[in-house]
Amino acid sequence: MRKNVLVFRALPDDLLGRLQADHDVTVADPRRPGQLPAFRAALAQAHGLIGSSVRLGAAELAGAAQLQVISSISVGVDNYDLEHLARRGITLCHTPGVLTETTADTVFSLIMATSRRLVELANWVRDGRWTKNIGEDLFGSDVHGKTLAVIGFGRIGQAVARRAALGFGMPVLYVNEAEVGLPALAGQVRRVGLDEALAQADIVALTLPLTEQTRGLMGEREFARMKPGAIFVNGARGAIVQEPALLAALDRGHLRAAGLDVFATEPLPLDSPLRRHPRVTALPHIGSATHETRRAMAELATTSLLQALAGQRPATAMNFARP
Ligand code: DGY
Repeated sequence: MRKNVLVFRALPDDLLGRLQADHDVTVADPRRPGQLPAFRAALAQAHGLIGSSVRLGAAELAGAAQLQVISSISVGVDNYDLEHLARRGITLCHTPGVLTETTADTVFSLIMATSRRLVELANWVRDGRWTKNIGEDLFGSDVHGKTLAVIGFGRIGQAVARRAALGFGMPVLYVNEAEVGLPALAGQVRRVGLDEALAQADIVALTLPLTEQTRGLMGEREFARMKPGAIFVNGARGAIVQEPALLAALDRGHLRAAGLDVFATEPLPLDSPLRRHPRVTALPHIGSATHETRRAMAELATTSLLQALAGQRPATAMNFARP
C-alpha cells in the first residue's frame, strides 16, 4: 500500500526515486526559507519521515497522527524523544556503522590541527606574515607518543583509538561503562574512570552520545582536572560540554587548545566567543560530511525507511513497531 513520506533533508535523485516508486513523497526542509508551512502540512499526513538535524520531540510530533517510522540520516538520535516514540509505537532507524571511519578521521584531524596549530598557521601564511623563519612562539606540540583519553568507546571511539595506538604510538585510556576487548590493541588501550582519564591525558577526545546522563558532563570541575596544557577535542555533541566552563579553562591558559566540530547551538551563533577564540579550531559539524559517507548514510536510511514501511524490521531500528 502506498504511504505518505516526508523527506526533510535533500536526498540524491535516485534515492528519492526509490521512495517515489512505492510511496507518495513530499520534500520540505523546515530550515529552508518558506518551507515550514509545507513541512507542517506534510508532517500531519506522514506515515514515514526521512532526514536529519531537526528537533522532532513530542511537541513537534503532536500533530503527526499517522506517523509509523522515522529514518534519521544520522547515527546520533538526540533530536528525538525515544520514550515518546516507543509509547506511540513509532519505529526509529538511524545510520550506525557507515560513518564510523569518516567521523574518526574528523576527530583525528582536530587532534592534529589543534596540536600542530595547523589552521592558525595556515592563516598566518595566507595573511602574508611568513617573512622569516618561525620562532618558538609558533611551535606546536607532538601528537605521536602522547596519551589520548577517549571518552565514550563505541564504534567511533574505538576507530579513533585504532588510529592513535597503531598509527601514532599513543597510549590510549578510554572511559566506557563496559570493558571493550580489542585484541589488535592489546597492551595499548586501558579502561579507566573519567577522573583518571582527565588527569592523565595530554589530549581528551569526546566520542559519546548525548543523553540525559551525558548532558553537561564536561564542566568547570572536569576541565580543572585536565592536565595543564592539555588539548580538548569534541566530535560528539556540543551539549555534552558546558561551553562557558570550556572558555574559562582556555582563557586562563589551563588548556592549550580546543578542537570543536559540534556546539550547544548549531549553526554556531555569530556572537559566540568560541567562533574567533585564538585557541579554538571550530568546524561546522563535519563529522560525517564526505561525499562517500553522506551518500552511504542516505542510502542506508532510505533502505531502512522502505523496509519499516513494508512491515520488515530494519537492522538499523533502535525500536521497532510493526505498522
Ligand atoms: C550523526 O550522524 O549523528 C552526525 O553527527 C550528523 O548529525
